[in-house]
Amino acid sequence: MQSSLCPMFGIDVPIFGFSHCRNVVAEISRAGGMGVLGTTYYSAEALEHELAWIDQQVGDKPYGINLLLPGNYETVGEEKLDFRKLPPEHVKFMRDVCDEAGIPPLPPGEREALLDHEIAQLHMTPEHAHQLLEVALRHPNIKLFVSALGVPPAHFVELLHSRGIKVGAMTGKVEHARRHKAAGLDLVIAQGTEAAGHTGKVSSMVLWPEVVDAVAPMPVIAAGGVGRGRQMAAAFALGAQGVWCGSIWLGTKESELEPEMKALLFGAKSEDAVQTRSRTGKPARMLRSRLTEAWEQPGALKTLPMPWQTVLNTEPRLRMERARHPEFLTYPVGQIVGLMTAETSCKQVIYDMLEEFIETTERVGHLVELENE
Ligand SMILES: Cc1cc2nc3c(=O)[nH]c(=O)nc-3n(C[C@H](O)[C@H](O)[C@H](O)COP(=O)(O)O)c2cc1C
Repeated sequence: MQSSLCPMFGIDVPIFGFSHCRNVVAEISRAGGMGVLGTTYYSAEALEHELAWIDQQVGDKPYGINLLLPGNYETVGEEKLDFRKLPPEHVKFMRDVCDEAGIPPLPPGEREALLDHEIAQLHMTPEHAHQLLEVALRHPNIKLFVSALGVPPAHFVELLHSRGIKVGAMTGKVEHARRHKAAGLDLVIAQGTEAAGHTGKVSSMVLWPEVVDAVAPMPVIAAGGVGRGRQMAAAFALGAQGVWCGSIWLGTKESELEPEMKALLFGAKSEDAVQTRSRTGKPARMLRSRLTEAWEQPGALKTLPMPWQTVLNTEPRLRMERARHPEFLTYPVGQIVGLMTAETSCKQVIYDMLEEFIETTERVGHLVELENE
């Protein structure tokens, strides 16, 4: 199965796999697709380490990176992120939710140091994005750079192009796709609201063909709700040149998730993947939990803008991770969680997807033949 994206990247199948987990990224590229590493929360040193590992695993196969560029944040600029700057009523709201569930507080002697350490990992400055880019440029197997939110700055695009790296961006709206085209990008990833993580409001079924028509002949990769061959066939039928999957890899043996989190996903229904501002301040789809529900209750406060909501979540997250309270466990996941019922592997996902894609196209082709008989 080939599309215009296969010769563009030297891949065998136009299946792109997003993950924050190096094992998943390497395995997808080794299987003939294109793994794309989410790098947002890495330090430059940690990223160098992960990319060196991926290079070793993939041999001469290509892979990509995805980065959230701080230039596109609403509020961050150069301001140092510090939990001491959070509005006290928001801190109290989160503390009450944890206390009411009997989740122990962080040890008082360690609390400040733990929070400072965690928040320092958020790395949300333009310099940091440049440092990550410099690291990535040292790894020649990286053939694709994807901006997670918004149009990448022109100097980023020029630099990447001068090194032979294709540049893409995520989009949930047709106007944004047009802006990406005008900025000289090579492709867009049109992500419907069904997807995990930050999402817009338009469903894949409507968004994909809209974006395909708006940016033609620029290639469009379809994301949001693709985990099986029938969904892949639908994406190609609607004009996409490739598919981009995120949630489906969470259920693989290579994924970063602990068994208890995987078990929660395998038991979840499609409607348990809810869109909420509670994690980052921007609408993001993730597994419903008592924490996501707390922000939906009557009288709940308004969430903080990005990135302060993430800063606010640091303490409850640390408390919950320590307590391992299953009702508070959550993770970004899309509506296809309802199709994920048992552990598999990245290779098996790709194999099953291609097999079902071929069956589907044959079945649909047969319908056309019947019509012509
Ligand atoms: C755990 C997880 C984290 C994600 N984080 C990001 C991210 O940092 N940047 C990004 O552009 N997309 C992120 N996404 C979205 C994926 O890139 C992809 O568009 C989405 O998962 C596709 O829809 P699906 O979830 O239905 O497969 C994330 C997805 C998952 C599952």
